Amino acid sequence: MSHQPGPGDESPAPPLKGLVGTSVAMQEVSATTRRVAASNASVLLLGETGTGKELVARAIHELSARGSGPFVRVNCGALSESLLESELFGHVRGAFTGAVANRAGRFEAAHTGTIFLDEINSTTPKLQVKLLRVLQEREFERVGDTETVRVDTRVIAASNRDLLDEVARERFREDLYYRLNVVPIVLPPLRSRRGDIPLLVTHFLGHYNRENDRGVVRVASAAAEALARYHWPGNVRELQNVVERCVVMAPGDEITLDLLPPTIRGDRAQAPSLPGRGGDLDSLARDLVEQGMATAAPDDDTLFDRVVSRVERELIAQMLGACGGVQLKAAARLGINRNTLRKKLLEHGLDEGGDG
Ligand SMILES: Nc1ncnc2c1ncn2[C@@H]1O[C@H](COP(=O)(O)OP(=O)(O)OP(=O)(O)O)[C@@H](O)[C@H]1O
Ligand SMILES: [Mg+2]
Repeated sequence: MSHQPGPGDESPAPPLKGLVGTSVAMQEVSATTRRVAASNASVLLLGETGTGKELVARAIHELSARGSGPFVRVNCGALSESLLESELFGHVRGAFTGAVANRAGRFEAAHTGTIFLDEINSTTPKLQVKLLRVLQEREFERVGDTETVRVDTRVIAASNRDLLDEVARERFREDLYYRLNVVPIVLPPLRSRRGDIPLLVTHFLGHYNRENDRGVVRVASAAAEALARYHWPGNVRELQNVVERCVVMAPGDEITLDLLPPTIRGDRAQAPSLPGRGGDLDSLARDLVEQGMATAAPDDDTLFDRVVSRVERELIAQMLGACGGVQLKAAARLGINRNTLRKKLLEHGLDEGGDG
């Protein structure tokens, strides 16, 4: 559904550099990114792993008036509290064992530019207080120092956990959350914008063909179908790795089904109804809903019942499998009574005559 802007047409903004995707969700991400880049507001990037949070953080910086200044990324999840504090704010000589000289921190390094605080959800309460002050007053002290440092730095933060949930669990300060969340940008998971998959495949094929001096230019239809069907827990990063592997391994100019990893090749090739297969019920439920929506005709009023029924069937089948086929046990763990379970087993064709 590509849209060709014509004269006098309110043409959509061009996509961001390096950000591939024409889905409505990605168009919204591009538009918000452009709008927020023009300001100095703090931005909070939310989304699962591999959805492009760092890509967007860099785009905001480059499109902003600070683009010629430094872009400094700090992974807050990779360092202990005291190392992170010294990394962010710097320290003075003698502040702790090993502090043999004065050292500026990353906030000072990002002066006139942007600091990208990745995995902000990993910060401890003590650091959250210090971060709140930087956001409010633009000032802090180096570790072990009394002198106040002032910086002109834009803050972009990212989290791959639901930060509001972390606030509710009292693991993240509410006041810091609201300070960071001036403009939130949510990067959608790849499985909720499957239409972007072919574009991304083409994009990464071009990239890895150039990098490896290869000419893999075609995707066999069975392989394309498997790529379109897979649930992509690692999102775009996972897709990127798969395409790279295929470019390197392909004997000819085509990505064929056998080149794909088994998990992708076999992912829900049949209806998802294998009892006792286990796996993540949340993502399975999401997939069932998406499959249902994808196949629903506009005048289809059976969608709700069909999807709920498939989720119910899968849940019962898995629980029965987990309970070794013992219906009494499965009913108890599902929180329903045994007669209800029996009825549902019949309804779903799962009844095998036994009564466990
Ligand atoms: N829309 C996109 N178009 C092209 N490449 C993308 C897109 N989204 C992500 N990528 C690529 O996927 C990889 C992962 O993206 P990125 O590092 O921005 O993800 P992330 O959200 O920061 O993940 P994590 O939470 O694991 O740090 C990068 O190589 C990035 O270039
Ligand atoms: Mg990242």
